[in-house]
Amino acid sequence: MNVEVQAVSPEEVEADVLAVPLTSGNGLAGAAGALDSALDGLLQRLSADGELRDEPGRVRIVHVDGKLGTSRLAVVGVGSADKVDADALRTAAALVAEEVGDFAEHLAWVVDDSLPPDAAEQVRALVDGTLLGSYHPARWKSDGSASKLSALVLCGSAKGLAASADRAALVAEWTNRARDLVNSPPNEMNPERLAERAREIASSVEHLTAEALGPDEIKAQGMGALAAVAQGSDTPPRLVVLRYDPPEPTHPELVLGLVGKAITFDTGGISLKPALHMEDMKGDMAGGAAVIEATGAIAELGLPIRVLTVAAASENMPGGHAYRPGDIITAANGKTIEVTNTDAEGRLVLADALWYAREQGATHVLDLATLTGAMEVALGDFYAGIFSNEDAWRDQVVAAGEASGDHAWAFPMHPRYRRYVDSVFADMKNSSDLRQAGAVLAAEFLKEFAGDGPWAHADIAGPAFLERSRGDYLMHRGGTGYGVRLIVELASRLSA
Ligand code: BES
Ligand code: MN
Ligand code: ZN
Repeated sequence: MNVEVQAVSPEEVEADVLAVPLTSGNGLAGAAGALDSALDGLLQRLSADGELRDEPGRVRIVHVDGKLGTSRLAVVGVGSADKVDADALRTAAALVAEEVGDFAEHLAWVVDDSLPPDAAEQVRALVDGTLLGSYHPARWKSDGSASKLSALVLCGSAKGLAASADRAALVAEWTNRARDLVNSPPNEMNPERLAERAREIASSVEHLTAEALGPDEIKAQGMGALAAVAQGSDTPPRLVVLRYDPPEPTHPELVLGLVGKAITFDTGGISLKPALHMEDMKGDMAGGAAVIEATGAIAELGLPIRVLTVAAASENMPGGHAYRPGDIITAANGKTIEVTNTDAEGRLVLADALWYAREQGATHVLDLATLTGAMEVALGDFYAGIFSNEDAWRDQVVAAGEASGDHAWAFPMHPRYRRYVDSVFADMKNSSDLRQAGAVLAAEFLKEFAGDGPWAHADIAGPAFLERSRGDYLMHRGGTGYGVRLIVELASRLSA
């Protein structure tokens, strides 16, 4: 989509539809009030008739022939003026995009100075909402209906708005690419395809290289945990590695390590999952998809920060070659793990991927993983839980998430939890039989492999893959691209 900022008044902008936010409980204030004057009180009259209502989420298309630069006005409720935030605008933008996408190509949006988010934040949210909101997961339908929208104009004149709009559009497009990877069926999106995607990205942007270790190299590196998870599948694993080395990094000694869980299908293995909704486990590679596509975004933006990205890609299958509960395996850092549940495979593949990222020089590590059902039980589909070995690093990750729209909430770690993964036979076990703190103990497990230096873990099991629409700008079931916006925001802050 072509996205552009124009220092033009809403009354004069040319487009198929002009969209304006309508706040509730204050008559027609702000930008909607100004347009009402230009329309000689038309909106007031519609409002008095009950045709125009200010409930949040309601979109009305009003024909305004001749009186504005556009022939139609889309008025969208955003709730009470003092509470309008970036998410309210993202959702409003998505609803408008959905409403007009069948017939309009050119959409304009008013930047409303009377609302709390500043103009740059509004532009970012409106671009996010329009681009993420017009994403459709129906790529595999024979008669998929795509949105007609091809251009978005933001009417605003504050300084620097064009840069905000361009960046938001770029990041939203990479986010939608991550969604494509997650929504792709597991018969298409296997470890090798993910590695191919990384190579494709590396060839499309500068200073980025990609490689992928196959099963033999994985074993040769001593990655017994990743190898064990992969051994039940006929589709071989890949450790996908991307290196972004810009010419003049702001902090040459800092290497951001991005580690992703990329289980392209999680059956649970011998500890087989129930059949109901098992198809959603194609989304178990969402962490890997996010780190790979976010690395592409960072490189396309040319952010001056070194990045090392590692995605552990494998299937988790039952079968004659599958690893078993009771198996004791040795991870690349030499620690031994008693497998007590083959469905706790994510922490195993991450154990080796985290080690590899450190071994390759990552100084500040963030991993993203659809790791535990317990996290989804705790936080639902909105927040990811953030765990860390260092409070300051955790707070930076949480702040980047909150600023980007990828909501993140700090969760605790404590050495006292370590006993949950104590094993009688080995250095640790990969799951506990207690139904307690499942997400925390998974993080405690990962900590054993996170090495020295700041490490944070984002358990994205809830927000990465929606079982159903969330009722906001993520309008559809399926992958959300969670993490791409968070990572790009974090990388920008670190490279400042
Ligand atoms: N991929 C799942 C976690 C998951 C569940 C993600 C639901 C998204 C939605 C993970 O591999 C898993 O199976 N975890 C187990 C761990 C348990 C066996 C200790 C879980 O959470 O049940
Ligand atoms: Mn599992
Ligand atoms: Zn899994």
